[in-house]
Amino acid sequence: TSDIRPLVAGNWKMNGTRSSLDQIRAIAHGVSGPLSRKLDALICPPATLLYVATTLTVDTRLMIGAQDCHQKARTGAHTGDISAEMIRDCFATHVIVGHSERRQEYGESNHRVLLKARAAYDQGLTAIICIGETREERAEGRTMEVLHRQLRGSLPDDATAANTIIAYEPVWAIGTGQTPRADEVAKVHARIRADLVARFGEGGETIRLLYGGSVNPGNAKELLGIPHVNGALIGGASLKAADFLSIYHAYE
Ligand code: G3P
Repeated sequence: TSDIRPLVAGNWKMNGTRSSLDQIRAIAHGVSGPLSRKLDALICPPATLLYVATTLTVDTRLMIGAQDCHQKARTGAHTGDISAEMIRDCFATHVIVGHSERRQEYGESNHRVLLKARAAYDQGLTAIICIGETREERAEGRTMEVLHRQLRGSLPDDATAANTIIAYEPVWAIGTGQTPRADEVAKVHARIRADLVARFGEGGETIRLLYGGSVNPGNAKELLGIPHVNGALIGGASLKAADFLSIYHAYE
């Protein structure tokens, strides 16, 4: 519904070195102005920049999140992994789980994504749970079926609007410059909303639904104006403060 506070979120993926902190500073400055009462902003830099990013954005309206976490919430022998506890310890507030790049490159199943979301909840983090169909699945007319299965399998039973955000990212739209038509996004988001309401009742009405996949300053206004699109998850166009802010300012 329209009283859901929109969220403009950036996923930096495996991009960003110390010199990129200037962009975080600029974004924090840009989102701390007059629009900020009506919408939220989040950047998910790589884990190497997480702590310094939260330190830089104290007392600003920019929130900082991580891009993934291990399914075990706390410590353990998992070389190279990062726990939700460590993310919280860095003062980050959100974590993306089940991004299609993780699902594809690491074979992450819906169940693993669910466990990661639970780990996030355990540490008081908000999980941004990603779902989306591949080009083949779309061509076979299986989009809705795939999304339904991903939603059912990746969302814990105790998902609420406070601990969960859903990002619909059609895999074929990620980094390709291609986006679904507005009416297709509208149809998918309405179905996701209906699915959430069927499962969670009233609670499902306020879980934020983000659209992700080739959002840029040129198409943001149209995509963000679609019913049941409660914000965006932006990849490439979130790396430069000017682009991110221009998408943010597409809300008026
Ligand atoms: O998580 C956001 C992402 O997958 C979309 O990437 O570069 O198409 O905006 P991009």
